[in-house]
Amino acid sequence: MKKNGIFITFEGPDGAGKTTQALKLKEYFTQKGISCLLTREPGGTSIGDKIRDILLDTENVKMSAKAEVFLYAAARAQLVTQVILPALEEGNVVICDRYVDSSFAYQAFGLGEDTGFVLKTNEEATGGLYPDLTLLLDVIPEDGLKRQQERHTKGAEAPDRIELKDLEFHRRVRQGYLFLAAIQKERVLLIKAGQGEEEVHKKVMKAVETLLSTRVIQG
Ligand code: TYD
Repeated sequence: MKKNGIFITFEGPDGAGKTTQALKLKEYFTQKGISCLLTREPGGTSIGDKIRDILLDTENVKMSAKAEVFLYAAARAQLVTQVILPALEEGNVVICDRYVDSSFAYQAFGLGEDTGFVLKTNEEATGGLYPDLTLLLDVIPEDGLKRQQERHTKGAEAPDRIELKDLEFHRRVRQGYLFLAAIQKERVLLIKAGQGEEEVHKKVMKAVETLLSTRVIQG
């Protein structure tokens, strides 16, 4: 199914700095003249953005865990079909800010939904498409949530339904990510987010350059 392209994802707890790093990486590819698409989850399509609004709406306190799994997976299915696969088939680099591993960390570990159910649902949603490389930015929830808080006080946006969950939830999410890094060493690179933007970017670049050295991509 996936042809010539390279698929890279950023993962991590809220406030780990994924979005900043994803933008820096896109900039790197653009400067090299390599065609690169940056997208994010949940969202990245007009249908996905509507699902995102439902998922993050603070009024939706009654959303069942199963409904949540399906909604993230539905947005993901749309993104894969409409955006990610076509771009990969054309030989582009695709960077995605969150992907299946977020459901593993947030819905399976955070909410305690059955891991097999979460993975199977996502297998169906993505047709089994997994990234070539996942950059997992690790931050303790106390620091991550503080960072998000600062963003909110600067007026960027209000805290969403997921950010408002308690500290224990966010601790379980981080444990999920750490577990993932331990069991998927070939694909997932764990990077400590607290060491500063430039240092994190250097580590990202090292991993990306290693990946590029093994693949031929078109300019
Ligand atoms: P977003 O504002 O994009 O957060 P961030 O900047 O931290 O990526 O909101 C996405 C939220 O949705 C975030 O709290 C993580 C959560 N999420 C899940 O719970 N499961 C998922 O599968 C995905 C993709 C996101």
